Amino acid sequence: RLPFEITGPLARPGTRIGPFSDLRHWGGSPRPLRVGVVGAGTGGGGVVAPQGGLPGLIRITGVAVRGERRPRPDLPAGVPVTNEARAVLASGCEVLLELAGGTEPAGDIVHAALSAGMSVITANKALLALRGAELAAVAERNGAGLHGSAAVGGGMPAIECVRAAVRHGPVRRITGVLNGTCNYVLDRIAGGASFEASVRDAQEAGFAEADPSLDLDGIDAASKLAVLVREAWGVNPDIRTTGIRETGLPANPRTGGVQRLVARAARGAGGRLAATVGPEFLDPSEFLAGARGVGNRLEVELESGQVLQATGAGAGRWPTALAVLSDLSRAVGARSARATAGRQAQVA
Ligand code: HSE
Repeated sequence: RLPFEITGPLARPGTRIGPFSDLRHWGGSPRPLRVGVVGAGTGGGGVVAPQGGLPGLIRITGVAVRGERRPRPDLPAGVPVTNEARAVLASGCEVLLELAGGTEPAGDIVHAALSAGMSVITANKALLALRGAELAAVAERNGAGLHGSAAVGGGMPAIECVRAAVRHGPVRRITGVLNGTCNYVLDRIAGGASFEASVRDAQEAGFAEADPSLDLDGIDAASKLAVLVREAWGVNPDIRTTGIRETGLPANPRTGGVQRLVARAARGAGGRLAATVGPEFLDPSEFLAGARGVGNRLEVELESGQVLQATGAGAGRWPTALAVLSDLSRAVGARSARATAGRQAQVA
């Protein structure tokens, strides 16, 4: 119920909004968006749980979960639960949330949904890094949307930040702290905890991937960087990747240095792209060094020298759910725009 202001990177002072009483004004949707969900773990469970608080906006038509079917008190009552992702595709949804992770079978499900003209919202960075260009083309051919805000940066608007930069001109470099688990583990180690205990805590807190080596070996950050590079330059980069395993971590070359897993991509002379992910000691005054705990930070520099920065909680249930909800609002908005265009065409 608070008034607030909306603006964007490089934009002028924004638009004052509200005070509105709740999210019912969101997208001006005339009827609930029918949403199918594949994966109801950390991220998926967070999206499904609050939708009871968004009356009139979303109706969940089906949820696919892994493993044995058991009572799910965390899901809205009456929602069909299945082990079959394909059954969710056939549940009458307009939008599919793919929150299961892994490249397969998630890739085939997303492909099938887009081919059927269904929009897809995914938090799957591995899939977008591997097949993002192909899936975006399938989406375009079928008039569907492919949204992946939650795939990079969690609650930090990373893809949005790069897109905003691209709208303003060619991008020179992208630099980011893109993995919450590594931050968390490095902070804990700096505070005297053991590597193993820190990783275990990150898993228990729901930050780490099901296979935490994806975080610790830098693969998760590299996938996220690949997604951002494609947004910025339209290419698939080769990324030299080093993780944060305890052995091999470089010694701190400076007093008070802050260690972070840093993702870098930049265009050098002749337009050649160099991309790396690896641990670095940063000066505490640097923007990226301010990423604490599961916080993520991103800096995008344009060829013009202008710099955009974004920060936000990069991992965990609610930051992921928030990013998915922002994509859902885009899907609702796109549907309203299509409906308006259809009405205008009829009038014409
Ligand atoms: N394991 C990931 C991280 C989750 O720690 O950043 C969010 O992508």
